[in-house]
Amino acid sequence: MFEQFWVVIPAAGVGSRMRADRPKQYLQVAGRTIIEHTLDCFLGHSRLRQLVVSLAVDDPYWPKLSCASDPRICRADGGGERADSVLAGLHRLFELGASDEDWVLVHDAARPNLSRQDLDRLLAQVQGDPVGGLLAVPARDTLKRAGADGRVEETIDRSVIWQAFTPQMFRLGMLQHALAGALEAGVAITDEASALEWAGHRPKLVEGRADNLKVTRPEDLRWLEQHLQR
Ligand code: CTP
Ligand code: MG
Repeated sequence: MFEQFWVVIPAAGVGSRMRADRPKQYLQVAGRTIIEHTLDCFLGHSRLRQLVVSLAVDDPYWPKLSCASDPRICRADGGGERADSVLAGLHRLFELGASDEDWVLVHDAARPNLSRQDLDRLLAQVQGDPVGGLLAVPARDTLKRAGADGRVEETIDRSVIWQAFTPQMFRLGMLQHALAGALEAGVAITDEASALEWAGHRPKLVEGRADNLKVTRPEDLRWLEQHLQR
């Protein structure tokens, strides 16, 4: 039987590329906010221990959502970069009684179309792993390396290129050390796996669905509206 897991949802971003009147996680899609869709997949899972959302300190939108009073959800104060928000969430989990060896799943608030099958595949394929892993999707198109002049330098072997998605699943203590160490060293950290890589580990790639999209630009909303309603 698989042990329980903790979840951190970084949700302190401003969504500048979305150019909307509020952070993208609070935009309505298919009748609910994006973050509510995101939380659904985890709240429906029987092995969820507790979930932390990392929010902007002055976030006026979160308290208005019904899930703000869900006893399985706690909040943490997010930081300037995504990695700061994740670290704050991990810190909160330790306050809630989590320990170094526990599994934590980190998942973007702006990625509302995670399927239960993908979540369960990640849990199943990573639970026995000494490092941890992440959902990812193999590159589909032919890839080119560009030169400074905008012309092709070379074609890259597509079979070794993957797009990194979330959730990303690691042991709490290991992830906290890697993130804190990488930030202190001034390394650019865009996901949890890159912090583990910086620390010398090789996270496991678990193939997931390509429609586990991170909402980034205005045109993504229309796609999502159609997809989530299906
Ligand atoms: N995030 C966060 N804290 C930050 C920056 C980002 O918790 N300081 C969260 C976002 O809320 C989002 C996730 O990390 O759920 C992925 O980040 P991204 O897609 O880049 O979202 P934003 O930073 O909000 O968007 P943008 O980069 O367009 O401003
Ligand atoms: Mg960002």
